Amino acid sequence: MVCVEQPAGPTGLIVFGASGDLTSGKLLPSLFDLYRRELISENFYILGCGRTEMSDEQFSQFAAEAIEKDAGKAADHAKKFTQKCHFINGDYDDAAFYEKLKNRIEELNRQHKVESNLIFYLSVPPFLYPVVVAQLGAGGLVSPESKLVVEKPFGHDLQSAQQLNEIISRTFRESQVYRIDHYLGKETVQNILMFRFANAIFEPIWNRNYIDHIQITIAESSGIGHRAGYYDENGALRDMFQNHVLQMLALVAMEPPTSFEADRVRDEKIKLLRAIRPIGFEPWSAQIVKGRYTAGQIDGKDVCGYLQEKGIPADSQTETYIAAKLLIDNWRWRGVPFYVRSGKRLAAKDTEIVITFRHVPHSMFLSAGLEELPPNILTLQIQPQEGISLQFQAKQPGSKICMSTLDMRFNYADVFAVQMPEAYSRLLLDAMLGDQTLFNRYDSVETAWKLLAPVLQKWQDSDIPLYEYPAGAQSFAAADNLIESDGRKWQPIGISQQK
Ligand code: BG6
Repeated sequence: MVCVEQPAGPTGLIVFGASGDLTSGKLLPSLFDLYRRELISENFYILGCGRTEMSDEQFSQFAAEAIEKDAGKAADHAKKFTQKCHFINGDYDDAAFYEKLKNRIEELNRQHKVESNLIFYLSVPPFLYPVVVAQLGAGGLVSPESKLVVEKPFGHDLQSAQQLNEIISRTFRESQVYRIDHYLGKETVQNILMFRFANAIFEPIWNRNYIDHIQITIAESSGIGHRAGYYDENGALRDMFQNHVLQMLALVAMEPPTSFEADRVRDEKIKLLRAIRPIGFEPWSAQIVKGRYTAGQIDGKDVCGYLQEKGIPADSQTETYIAAKLLIDNWRWRGVPFYVRSGKRLAAKDTEIVITFRHVPHSMFLSAGLEELPPNILTLQIQPQEGISLQFQAKQPGSKICMSTLDMRFNYADVFAVQMPEAYSRLLLDAMLGDQTLFNRYDSVETAWKLLAPVLQKWQDSDIPLYEYPAGAQSFAAADNLIESDGRKWQPIGISQQK
């Protein structure tokens, strides 16, 4: 076994928007996890910033509650960790706040013996990103060693993403910027690279000669939670497709990077994203379909439709489901369709990449009526029930010709007796260490938006139907047509959970 994990050196983490759900739900528990595993130095502090008035003690208490469920096993660590949590409040657009912030950082650097590794983490509403970045620059808070972590959404369209990149570049060099796509921090997503490039047997068949098509699914059974405002402005295309779906596609389809270094990996991803054929030819319904959930049932419970969710305007046209057929114009993938889909309130939570191989070129079992043998199917189960499975045909004991499809399966939970680490632990540690491999570079974000530009335009200019599906559904007719008109079928959602 080869395991390489480097602990981070002294660091100060300054979180803008620290009283929000992301901090309590993801950042604090992930940081505590790193601290407990001694991957964060004792010389570390978190300085939460927000508009809410909060004392250091109150923020420490907020942190204690956020890590409560993990603290039981490590009470000493928990106490020391919460003592590293501080808070400062002010208005993000007020220069005086940054003056105060600068002094506080200097004081905390002395107290916690941190020299220069400062991370500014933007967890504020996106309209504030440019404001905070510009103020940090103007206030002289940024040194060449500082880093900026930016949460998604990064832009609302191509133009706003370009603008944001431009504003950031006035204060930070690209090597200081960490654009988050939390899917890249998931173990199973990182495993795509190991699976493809640390084994000799897959890469030779990973191309148009052997693969018939690939499906990428991110299905969620949950709805929009308390994020009506954010979600209604964005919808599935911006919320999931522009980032998570395209990033997974890039990892599955890119060429082998020469080394596991940030820019080598990111160079290959961007080449792949650039090779995706622009969406935008007729008929649109054969390329992209959108839907919205109506009332239905999930796990036996009634749930309301999207338009009945609290905070959603009655005339909303926002999609909660997107399915698309993408083609990649390069030698490896020419003619191999990638069917991708993501939706809320579907039958189950299920993220998977399904690679269907071509049929055998000739069946020698014709005499037994076996004209077309089922193809091999490789499934990379991203979550839940993380694992990998390969379907193949095998002889069943008994009759002379008796064949059935077998499933060779590896489950992370059965093999590794550890809980899957939270994606944010990986990403936070990498940001502290200055490793950008699992973060998006400016060009990859812009290229993804460029791909969506014609779709957003078309949706604005004309009446592209917004189909409805009942909550709890597997799919709906228009989404099925997208793939079935090519003679293929969606893999059922949630099937891995039943195995
Ligand atoms: C976020 C989206 O990026 O990813 C959410 O904004 C979505 O709408 C979430 O629910 C899904 O993440 P995960 O890790 O639960 O698959």
